[in-house]
Amino acid sequence: MSIIIKNEVEIEKMRIVGRLAADVLDMIAPYVVVGVTTNQLNDICHNYIVDVQQAIPSPLDYRGFPKSICTSVNHQVCHGIPSDKKLKSGDIINIDVTVLKDGFHGDTSMMFFVGNVSPHAQRLCKITHEALFLGIEQIKAGSTLGDIGHAIQKHAETNRYSVVRDFCGHGIGRDFHEEPQVLHYGKAGEGLVLETGMILTVEPMINQGKHHTKSLGDGWTEVTKDHSLSAQYEHTILVTETSYEILTLRAEERAY
Ligand code: MF3
Ligand code: CO
Ligand code: CO
Repeated sequence: MSIIIKNEVEIEKMRIVGRLAADVLDMIAPYVVVGVTTNQLNDICHNYIVDVQQAIPSPLDYRGFPKSICTSVNHQVCHGIPSDKKLKSGDIINIDVTVLKDGFHGDTSMMFFVGNVSPHAQRLCKITHEALFLGIEQIKAGSTLGDIGHAIQKHAETNRYSVVRDFCGHGIGRDFHEEPQVLHYGKAGEGLVLETGMILTVEPMINQGKHHTKSLGDGWTEVTKDHSLSAQYEHTILVTETSYEILTLRAEERAY
């Protein structure tokens, strides 16, 4: 196993699938309201990906995952399984979408607010989104994975939050999860040196309390051990000679 450098043809396919994944998040936003179930959100995303985008939801049947998206609510850290439980006012929910089209995967996630969300939960989400972008801004050929992790960790911890250690970002392309592992903590200048044509996800999970996680009995859902709130945002990113290209950027983020 090694890190796959993508050529121009592959990069163009990753641009297309990245845009599709981002479009699913834009599409689902108006449906994330009080009283909807995460199964309903799953079904809307599934049908959109299959019927409109003529693509495949990568999570479905991935290592036995039973649904087409991941929905992680409040103290759920990641890999939440959609269910018949209704969202209630005050919930924060991460929807993680991965789409497969023409042989390539695009992976992105974001937080949504349900009804009236407390200022402390909103702040956690805002800092997590900022941490993602501070990590992304480190990316260019010649910088290191440690530069990304350090920028994220510094912003989270300066704001008295913690960075989840148990899950990380990853290379992505023909496989959903490729090498390398992209840690969201670390030391500047350490770790793998980035090269033009690498494609990675950066997907920090930031907790209000301690960083420790535990698995629920369903085999997938990860929650904070101390039951504190957790937030996550994810983008798929191409490393370029002098900078980066966010392949899953949404319209609302295009000011960056
Ligand atoms: N999309 C997740 C990630 O960012 C992985 C989900 S695996 C699943 O890497 F099986 F739960 F879908
Ligand atoms: Co990912
Ligand atoms: Co994801």
